[in-house]
Amino acid sequence: MEKLHAVITGVGGFVPDYVLTNDEIGQMCDTNDEWIMTRIGIKERRILNEEGLGTSYMARKAVRQLLERTGTAPLDVDAVLCATTTPDYHFPSTASIVIGKLGMTNAHAFDMQAACSGWLYAMNQAACMVECGRYKKVVVIGGDKMSSILDFTDRQTSPIFGDGAAAVMVEPTTEDLGWQDAYLRTDGQGLPFLVQKAGGSVAPPSYFTLEHRLHYVHQEGRTVFKFAVTNMSDSCALIAERNALNNDNISWVIPHQANIRIIEAVAKRLEVPMDKVLVNIHRYGNTSSGTLPLVLWDFERQLHKGDNIIFTSFGAGFAWGAAYMKWGYDPKK
Ligand code: UT7
Repeated sequence: MEKLHAVITGVGGFVPDYVLTNDEIGQMCDTNDEWIMTRIGIKERRILNEEGLGTSYMARKAVRQLLERTGTAPLDVDAVLCATTTPDYHFPSTASIVIGKLGMTNAHAFDMQAACSGWLYAMNQAACMVECGRYKKVVVIGGDKMSSILDFTDRQTSPIFGDGAAAVMVEPTTEDLGWQDAYLRTDGQGLPFLVQKAGGSVAPPSYFTLEHRLHYVHQEGRTVFKFAVTNMSDSCALIAERNALNNDNISWVIPHQANIRIIEAVAKRLEVPMDKVLVNIHRYGNTSSGTLPLVLWDFERQLHKGDNIIFTSFGAGFAWGAAYMKWGYDPKK
């Protein structure tokens, strides 16, 4: 039997209409546009500010577009994986809500939580499901409503994040395209440095947790920055080396969009010029699980069949990695 590869056959995305500027953030905490642009590289981010809407709203908008673009009937989807750290509820899963709203009732669905590396891990999982021959159409969503866990009076975290979601369709092919290799790692050392301290089973919601503002993102940025640069760079170098990839044959690098300085450091280590590195951090900020598929959504028209792409991510846990994929189709008309 011919080897099956798992290839992305389409992308859909959604970002909320509301644009939150650096100047507006500067009215809520002690920061300004210049600091945010030079230290992080974010000009603005989108915020889902309609009451009663959560991550599944953005995810289902993204998946609806994906189904339209790929001409897929909802009943033909076999599985839906949703990478998110800000699910609508602790349970049921956000993926199950998406399935219900879009009528994909021949599929099973589950969420994956690996913070900012969630979509990369979910993609690898979907690739395994497709490569084994048992799944024909797997939807992989990455999305977060980070504004739901941000303290807008905290200048160390509030400028960084934004809301958004995107989704890809993963299908089998016998062509030499799609998911080629992945190096994914989690070390468990990140807990003190990047965590939402309350709301889980260790510290369920209480007056104490509310009063002490423990339901927001807590980040020790400088430490996270160092680990992010080292681990993303090392994993990219490893993936490049074991697949004989270098500036001559790498078409694009798609890094997690957390900080432009991290992105530039990764590009430097790979010895790839910045014009091969796809960046939209200035427009959306860090949408956590959403960053990598949102880059695909934004730059889809620039990608060509056979393009060699390296993805890399880093997030809470710490959880990080890099993957190598050959793009599966030419720009759609
Ligand atoms: O996606 C998950 C993974 N997360 C990441 O990859 C994030 C990694 N970390 C970062 O991107 C950066 O560390 C931050 C953007 C969070 C912070 O940038 P930094 O260059 O590491 O700043 P810093 O924390 O070292 O702070 C430098 C100075 C400090 O002032 P002093 O002590 O030098 O007087 C901070 O108080 O900048 C100050 N500062 C700010 N000033 C204006 C920190 N945040 C702000 C701010 N506006 N928003």
